Amino acid sequence: MSDHLQGINLLEDALRPPRGHATRHTMTTGSQSFTGRITLADLAATEALGARIATGLRVGDAVALKGDLGTGKTTLARAILRALAVAENIPSPTFTLVQTYETSRLVVRHYDLYRVEDPREIDELGLDEALEEGAALIEWPEHAGDLLPDDALQVALVATGAQSRRADIIGPAHWIAALMESDHAR
Ligand SMILES: Nc1ncnc2c1ncn2[C@@H]1O[C@H](COP(=O)(O)OP(=O)(O)O)[C@@H](O)[C@H]1O
Ligand SMILES: [Mg+2]
Repeated sequence: MSDHLQGINLLEDALRPPRGHATRHTMTTGSQSFTGRITLADLAATEALGARIATGLRVGDAVALKGDLGTGKTTLARAILRALAVAENIPSPTFTLVQTYETSRLVVRHYDLYRVEDPREIDELGLDEALEEGAALIEWPEHAGDLLPDDALQVALVATGAQSRRADIIGPAHWIAALMESDHAR
């Protein structure tokens, strides 16, 4: 089996929901980046992906959560925060634009930029400071314009059914380990 296929199997194992629903995807890795397409069969699969992302989240990381309304951006952000042991209520930042969480490992700010019309407003939301201090999960990153860091992990969600989603993921190489780590290796 080629390394490429081996990687696919590892990620597939890692993201398989407990009830054994098929999770299929293709993935390529290079020295500079991680690219993956993952089929999320249900909510449990999205939560498993959130846990994977939480594992790799470091100070300075931006996670761009793309996709239409209702595709699961907030659900995935919640899964990441829950995996970092946030026990408090996690509201959507639709109106507050940003919510801050002191998680078990680092400070994480959760943004929803849907209502931001001018990227200059993001200065006021402290994205730069957020990334100096900790990490940022950003819904509607398109509204950040040039202020979105080039090295953001980009997760684009598409609804493929009532419970199923597709996630197209691209990001820098440091994400490979967290996103490919098998459950058996933990
Ligand atoms: N596999 C899945 N992944 C994420 N959300 C799902 C999934 N299946 C169903 N849903 C539902 O879709 C909705 C997604 O809403 P939300 O996370 O607020 O979306 P967004 O933030 O992208 O607008 C929630 O009601 C969630 O329960
Ligand atoms: Mg949302």
